[in-house]
This record gives sequence, C-alpha cells and structure tokens, in this order.
Amino acid sequence: MVIARLRAAGCVFAEDETELLIATARTPAELAAMVERRALGLPLEHVLGWAEFSGLRVAVDPGVFVPRRRTEFLLGRAVALGRRAARPAPAPVVAVDLCCGSGAVGAALAAALERVELHASDIEPAAVRCARRNVAAAGGEVYEGDLFAPLPAALRGRIDILVANVPYVPSEEVGLLPAEAREHEPRVALDGGADGLDVLRRVTAAAPQWLAPGGHLLVETSERQAERAVETVARSGLVPQVAVSDELHATVIIGTRPAEPAAVTVEE
Ligand SMILES: C[S@@+](CC[C@H](N)C(=O)[O-])C[C@H]1O[C@@H](n2cnc3c(N)ncnc32)[C@H](O)[C@@H]1O
Repeated sequence: MVIARLRAAGCVFAEDETELLIATARTPAELAAMVERRALGLPLEHVLGWAEFSGLRVAVDPGVFVPRRRTEFLLGRAVALGRRAARPAPAPVVAVDLCCGSGAVGAALAAALERVELHASDIEPAAVRCARRNVAAAGGEVYEGDLFAPLPAALRGRIDILVANVPYVPSEEVGLLPAEAREHEPRVALDGGADGLDVLRRVTAAAPQWLAPGGHLLVETSERQAERAVETVARSGLVPQVAVSDELHATVIIGTRPAEPAAVTVEE
C-alpha cells in the first residue's frame, strides 16, 4: 500500500523510499503520517529527519537545505587537503564550514580527519539549530550570522580548511528548480544573486584575512560559473585551482593562500 501511494504521488523511487520510511517510523501511525507528508511533496529527507552524507546519517530538519550527493566531491577535496595540513600532535587542523546548513560537510570533515578544531556558521536559525546537533559529536561550535561575522576573531589568520557551499543558483533560475527545493528549502539557501556568484564573491573577498598561510578555501559552483569564480578567487590574492567530478557533476574552486616566504637572515 505504501509503495502504491508513493507511486501514485509521482515518487520515482517508491520501493527504496518505502524501505527507508518503514525502517524509520516507530509506529504504524507514524508511518502513515510520513507517507502522507512525502506524498504531498516534502523532500524525503525532511520526512525522515535525516540524510545520508558520505556514509554519515546527518539530521536534516524541515526548512533546512538537504545536503546533496555532489557535495561529497567538495568534502573529498577538503579531506585530502586537511590531511596534508595536519601538524604534529596535539595540534589540530583548524576547519570552518561557512554557510553550513545542516553542518553535513563540517561533520563529515571532522569524522574523516584525526584531530580537528571545527567551527561552522549559517545565517538561518533553523540551520544553526540543526547543525549544532550534527557537529556536536566532533566538539564543533556553530554560530549564527552573516558569513564570517559571527566567528571568533581569534580564528583570523588561523584557518587551514575553509569550506563554503554557498548558494549559487542565479536568481532568475530559482523558479526553475524542482518543487522539492523551491518549496521546501529556504530561498537564502539557493539564491546566489543575478549571476549566482554574489555570496561566493563576498566569501572570497574576506577569505585571505581568515586563512592561515597555506590554508585553502573550497567552494562549490557550477561548470558554467567556474571561469568567473576563478577570476574572483585570483583577484582576492588566493591561488585558484578548479577540480571537477564528471561522476558527481560537481565543480569545486579551491583558493590557496600563499605560504609566507621563509624569513631571510642577513648577515653583516
Ligand atoms: C547551498 S546551502 C549549503 C548548506 C550546506 N553547506 C550543505 O552543503 O548541505 C547554503 C547555505 O548558506 C546559508 N547562507 C546563505 N547566505 C548566507 C550568509 N550571508 N551568511 C551565512 N549563511 C548563509 C543558507 O542558510 C544555507 O544553509
């Protein structure tokens, strides 16, 4: 009956979704309510209350951006760079998940790195509440506010890995997104301004002051926006690099703060 109800509502993966709903519901009444919410068009993750991200079960509350599979590519690059940035124990890698949404990227980064000092921030109160639950296991702190504004000042010049999956859909195209995103994710999580790069530009302009020498900024963008995003990163003084995954249809721009030149001793 559940499969039939979901199929009738247009769910393409009705069988798989049914298994997840049955496994998550604690009572038949809860299952019936969940099936109805899904049939009404709520994203599956909002109905379940969680999403799988890089093998982790991440809490996702209603009104919070659902982490996308393609963002696992950004995560993979961040993990690789974080491992290279690792210093001798007990010094942690300092990581910040800006525009954190549910905190999925930060939580997965912390799970993959051995020692990490994790900070995250978002402007949406619902996202901040949700992220607090997800990054708690890693001892991470989550702050509410505009981009870098709520971060502790002591992080300036200390961040090794700065991940920012900013909103990057051009304003005019938000209306073309699937209804699940358009109707159930906040516009602030999707809309990146006229060309989709407004938030990326703001993050990039401020990043050099927050990154440690040799630290990396990683932002997700679209293939179409990559060239302009690279120019923006280069203008900020960071060294840009583009990483692409054909499998996940993902494009990530990495901006690296040049390492400080070694001090030169002049002998008299
Ligand atoms: C595309 S979602 C990404 C969420 C999460 N990083 C992920 O990958 O699942 C973008 C997030 O940026 C947040 N955001 C948008 N503008 C912001 C701003 N000015 N300051 C802080 N967060 C912002 C939104 O609330 C949303 O949670």
